[in-house]
Amino acid sequence: MDEIRIITTSDGSHSLLNTALNETYHSIHGAIQESKYVFILHGLDHWLERNKKKEIKILEIGFGTGLNAFLTILHSIQSGVHMYYESWEVYPLEMDIVKQLNYPNVLGSPELFSSIQEASWDQAVAITPEFTLHKRKGDILIGPLEESLPFDLIYHDAFAPVKQPEMWTFEMLKKVTGSLAQAGIWITYCAKGQVKRDLKTLGLTVETLPGPPGKKEMIRASR
Ligand SMILES: C[S@@+](CC[C@H](N)C(=O)[O-])C[C@H]1O[C@@H](n2cnc3c(N)ncnc32)[C@H](O)[C@@H]1O
Repeated sequence: MDEIRIITTSDGSHSLLNTALNETYHSIHGAIQESKYVFILHGLDHWLERNKKKEIKILEIGFGTGLNAFLTILHSIQSGVHMYYESWEVYPLEMDIVKQLNYPNVLGSPELFSSIQEASWDQAVAITPEFTLHKRKGDILIGPLEESLPFDLIYHDAFAPVKQPEMWTFEMLKKVTGSLAQAGIWITYCAKGQVKRDLKTLGLTVETLPGPPGKKEMIRASR
């Protein structure tokens, strides 16, 4: 895919630039920093603290580089929490791009990173005894979510609303948050006012949180 270029973000970790959309996969202020702050700290840790459980079902919108999946499996190894992680991706990356990403250099566990990347699509794969990964190759706008309902935590990590508005419409938010369990959490790096209003209309409790470096705010919604 010559539309994809590797870039180095401010914390030294890689991200990708989709040159057709002129959009990066992560914050240029730090890819690992952003993923840890938004999805792990304000998503996963928050849900675990609120629910005091040792198992969780997570849905990700946009597998991309697999960075969020990698940080989440590393968390499960440390915390001992059992996780089912379903992640949708319409444009899986070429392996030669993935192999150049420096996430294992920064975070360690290169075998784990490879296992995530090499796991088959469209089937649940036990990467470790605690972590099952189900990568789903397809368009989440039309794909069915019913099979694995309900999810405790949703990482909404689509490209930004200005670049990919169809991933942030009322209908899309309704579909995705409709798959949330009781006490489920939906988390994103985005802070768009219309998204907040739509989530409130859908009956969710919406919080505006301070964003990661380089970003003023972000949204968390809960059922
Ligand atoms: C911001 S990036 C995701 C970054 C990713 N979570 C990571 O950790 O690297 C957005 C991803 O959503 C994917 N995507 C775009 N439209 C999609 C769709 N309709 N269904 C599923 N994935 C989609 C893109 O191909 C891209 O990989």
